[in-house]
Amino acid sequence: MRKKSAALVILIIIILLLGWSIYGYGVSDHESGVQYVIGVSQANMRETWRIELINQIVEEAEKYENIRIITTDATSDADKQAQDVKRLREFGIDLLIISPSDTSDMTQMISDVYHEIPVIVMDRAIEGFDYSLFIGPDNALIGRQAAKSIVELLKGEKGEVLELYGDKMSRQSQERSKGFETIMVDYPEIRKQVFHIENATRDQAYDSLCLMKEELQKVDAIFAYNDYMALGAYEALKEMGLENKVKIVGSDGYAGKNEGIDLVKQGKIEATISCPTGGREAVQYALNILNEESGVPKQVILRSHTIAKENADDYLAELNKEYKDIKETITVGYSQVGQESKWRLANTQSILAAAKEFNVELLFDDADQSQERQIAAVREFIEKQVDVIVISPVVEKGWDEVLREAKEAGIPVVLSDRKIESSEDDLVTTYIGADFLEEGRRAMRWIVKNVPADQEQKKILEIQGNEEASPTEGRKTGFRDILEENPLYQIVYSAYGDYTYEGGRSVIERYLKEHDWDIDIIFCHNDDMALGAIEELERFGIEPGVNVKIVSVDATMEAFKAMAAGKLNCSVECNPLLGPPLMKAIKDLMSGKEMPLRIITEEKVYDQTTAEDEIRVRKY
Ligand code: AHR
Repeated sequence: MRKKSAALVILIIIILLLGWSIYGYGVSDHESGVQYVIGVSQANMRETWRIELINQIVEEAEKYENIRIITTDATSDADKQAQDVKRLREFGIDLLIISPSDTSDMTQMISDVYHEIPVIVMDRAIEGFDYSLFIGPDNALIGRQAAKSIVELLKGEKGEVLELYGDKMSRQSQERSKGFETIMVDYPEIRKQVFHIENATRDQAYDSLCLMKEELQKVDAIFAYNDYMALGAYEALKEMGLENKVKIVGSDGYAGKNEGIDLVKQGKIEATISCPTGGREAVQYALNILNEESGVPKQVILRSHTIAKENADDYLAELNKEYKDIKETITVGYSQVGQESKWRLANTQSILAAAKEFNVELLFDDADQSQERQIAAVREFIEKQVDVIVISPVVEKGWDEVLREAKEAGIPVVLSDRKIESSEDDLVTTYIGADFLEEGRRAMRWIVKNVPADQEQKKILEIQGNEEASPTEGRKTGFRDILEENPLYQIVYSAYGDYTYEGGRSVIERYLKEHDWDIDIIFCHNDDMALGAIEELERFGIEPGVNVKIVSVDATMEAFKAMAAGKLNCSVECNPLLGPPLMKAIKDLMSGKEMPLRIITEEKVYDQTTAEDEIRVRKY
């Protein structure tokens, strides 16, 4: 009897303690005004950039009384990271920020959490798009910047370069190496060899190089994938009396004693390529997401800088400068492609409305799909000395000259919607728009899933946008990425439709003049061309959506109506509502904030299964 009573008492105490811990947390935090709890899962707190990321998140979160941060350290153990996330979920967090460990594929675990609460993925990209927002650097750019720095140090002459590469499995290392190679390939006289430092630590770099004395006699420069390995390399070279012979370039570029910037100022390394952690941005976007604000992008790709002795102090000053509170009206020169499609009209509407909302004076020029007209407009904006120039470039090439003129005039240029190809990385401040490559892949993935090839070949007719436009090139390439994996599908005819209704219609008309109808699937780079194609097919008694499956891009209202009518089968979204994120970026730019390299919009895939419902909520 006594034993039973004791057990009962213990059980009651446990229940009370459990109740208090949950209730207690709720009560105390409720009183303190904590509205959101954000869980932060860090892969390890061994690598300094990961400690820096956590510090930035905690420091930024302290500015907001209504959020509480809980951090966990997975000590580089992927299973433990999954356990950490599980415990954070059980604790009742409202949003997860995760910096996944490299060595394991956290995609499925993150996807499961994302279907219940918002998830922000930091730095290490995962497969697919099952997350709310990705924030990270462009590691290929970091590799290119390091290579340019090394080439400059070797004066483009012959030489021997040692790449101190981190963990082989790390996507970050692989992307930096690819970027490094794209530049070094143009300097065949500069030979390079790669050396793996598995844990990418200072001591491991030091120990490894101390065993390479003979090889190092021939080495002229070292690219270390982080500043800790750069320091370890320097210390080893100093032991051998080679510290003045071998030039070192590192990466990460943090402030603080013996961090990258300090090593540059001490003269131990020649340069470091900054790799911002995005911690501050993560907290700001987390609040946007939790407050259900519009315009939250899908990916924010952070900018990196080459920091050498001559600009180290200026860079530090930039890091610590106070943002200006913009009072005066900002003047923006906007060069728009034209009025070729319903998407474009929605895009223009969004830009004009957001300019009003953000109190921006907009000089707007419609180029009617002429690059010559766009270049003339940009020159006019320069002459008028606008604060910022925005271009939606009708084609990718031929912009360097006029962008150099804008740079010389000290006017930043932002790309909206479409991209350019340029030999220089610093002519454009930021790109805001879609991932056209992924849009093309999504279109073909939908076809593979919904138009099974079974045993017979499926013939595809492709109607492309205007030639050499970034969406045309991206969608074409992305579509073919997936097509190549599925040999039972084949593009038998491809032509340009210039993104217009008439363009789409005339491609079908031309095909029917030259061939008997034998097409199973039509892939159109936008809805307007799909609708033009549909009209022409119906004229020939071919039932669109039935006799031939049609997949397009944009997901405009007209596409939803065509899907609801059974004439269009799928439309991959390309979000035209770029006005708010564009004007926010311009305000941030003018206040002195560091601009991301790219801001990529959120996009989905729609088909007939959801068309009726979506029509009621679509904004364009
Ligand atoms: O640049 C985006 C593309 O341009 C859209 O997909 C198309 O409709 C527009 O003309």
